Amino acid sequence: MPTREDITYFGAGPAFLPTTVLQSASQALLNYNDTGLGLTEHSHRSPLANQILADTKANLKGLLDVPDDYDILFMQAGGSGEFSAVVYNLVGVWVERRRRKAEKEIAASTEGLSQEELYSKVLERLKKEVAEELKLDYLVTGSWTLKASQEAARLIGPDHVNVAVDARKENDGKFLTVPDEKTWRLTPTKKEGGTGSAFVYYCDNETVDGVEFPAFPNCLESQGGDEEGERLVVADMSSNILSRRVDVGKFGVIFVSALRTVCPSTETAADEFAGWSTEECRYHWANTSHHP
Ligand SMILES: Cc1ncc(COP(=O)(O)O)c(C=O)c1O
Repeated sequence: MPTREDITYFGAGPAFLPTTVLQSASQALLNYNDTGLGLTEHSHRSPLANQILADTKANLKGLLDVPDDYDILFMQAGGSGEFSAVVYNLVGVWVERRRRKAEKEIAASTEGLSQEELYSKVLERLKKEVAEELKLDYLVTGSWTLKASQEAARLIGPDHVNVAVDARKENDGKFLTVPDEKTWRLTPTKKEGGTGSAFVYYCDNETVDGVEFPAFPNCLESQGGDEEGERLVVADMSSNILSRRVDVGKFGVIFVSALRTVCPSTETAADEFAGWSTEECRYHWANTSHHP
């Protein structure tokens, strides 16, 4: 029977963990911090469990230099659950921003409207904007972004999903590389003469296909406009988080199915999209992340 020392393991994920880390984890399963009980036997509502989460957050915040207006959430449903949660949450943000704008503009331009009339005019305008302008941009560079874009199409309809790039078209049917940014067909922002997308989604490292973005894409850099003019960037970093420095401030959401490499799944989300408080934001994500 081979021992750990006999094995050289190159799996992309679950990844190889140092033996000392596993020894300390197995000790914690038997007797966590000399409490006489194992980690999985302590209540998940106990101060001890809360402390573990707080320490993990603090460590991640330090290691990734996470800005103060971001939160780190630990959730069920893994990476595939996030394919849906991202759509549910960020389409909600897009609609809410449009609703606020419509309400302000209609109220300012039409005097003497009752609350009910205002509501119905806002609803009418919102429905039109959703039908004509709601777009989600996906950079499909491997099997995981393909799955994520298919999930978005299933949830809100293929007409709202813009596959801005499909790497297979540039690589004889295989994913292989990230195509040149010049070939991407992103939904134009306000500054570029369009109405912008709800978000741009990409996978920083396509685990199965071995396609990694060398750096943050130039064309997704901030355009210095108002919230409508900016691109909200979502990145799946399931298989390369903590492998290099990331400027978290450039992203709206980074999510990780960390089961294979780091720990149970984590989520980093900017709080301010819809002017939500941290608590509201946490509640929102937690309650939309369990959809199939
Ligand atoms: C890059 C990437 N995204 C998403 C997933 C899906 O995560 P899960 O298996 O937790 O649904 C994986 C799984 O390996 C992955 O490697």
